[in-house]
Amino acid sequence: MSPEIPTYKTNMMDVTQPRNAGMDWHEQALDLTRGIAAYVNCPLVAGLARVITKHPNADIANAFNHKQVACKMWALDRLFESCGGRFGRIWVLGGWYGVLPAMLFNDARFDIAAVDSIDIDPEVAPVARTLNREAGDRFRALTADMYALDYAAERPDLMVNTSCEHIADLRAWLALLPRGTTVLLQSNDYFSEPTHINCVASLAAFEAMAALREVRFSGELPTKNYTRFMLIGTV
Ligand SMILES: C[S@@+](CC[C@H](N)C(=O)[O-])C[C@H]1O[C@@H](n2cnc3c(N)ncnc32)[C@H](O)[C@@H]1O
Repeated sequence: MSPEIPTYKTNMMDVTQPRNAGMDWHEQALDLTRGIAAYVNCPLVAGLARVITKHPNADIANAFNHKQVACKMWALDRLFESCGGRFGRIWVLGGWYGVLPAMLFNDARFDIAAVDSIDIDPEVAPVARTLNREAGDRFRALTADMYALDYAAERPDLMVNTSCEHIADLRAWLALLPRGTTVLLQSNDYFSEPTHINCVASLAAFEAMAALREVRFSGELPTKNYTRFMLIGTV
């Protein structure tokens, strides 16, 4: 004789009125992110929860969407392979909400003294500081135009610019860097995005535009809507 299968009575109110019916997406995202941070014991995810709480208007879901994260994981993997994991100071130009520094600090392969995230938009620095709070004084978020910085004064070990599609003249920016500076650059062929003012059609076009003296890595990462290109080398 087959075991009796229990039956459950379902109140239609349970189906049509879930517990979260009155909560907005923001409250739910905060609950979920806090839960994930506790479960994985991850400072980066705890930082995302802080950003959701303190900066409800920040576009953090866009900055940390799965495509952005995949592109930055790719950057970290290839950087480690090409240059190792020990750095003094790193500058991230066009650093937005400081996601890349947070991923660097959270990655056990890397031993980094300090990361500065520099962006022309004054609204992003407070968010980047909130995200990277646990890095303490190893992290700074600065508001500046990357074309107006004195790159010879501080001479960081590495310049990261994953926002090359957002700046008008990549060559003019690279010309500001002292000869021999190590750079990690990303761009893409996502021409239809209105904020992208300087996309490239191919990896060869990106290589030609950057004209690095030495190339340690050159590659592309196809995603659903566009291909991302990356160069690691020296100017
Ligand atoms: C949308 S975000 C970053 C996108 C990129 N895919 C990424 O995640 O690295 C581009 C950033 O570049 C910044 N930016 C644009 N021109 C800049 C400049 N001249 N100096 C510094 N930051 C700049 C913008 O303010 C923006 O925060």
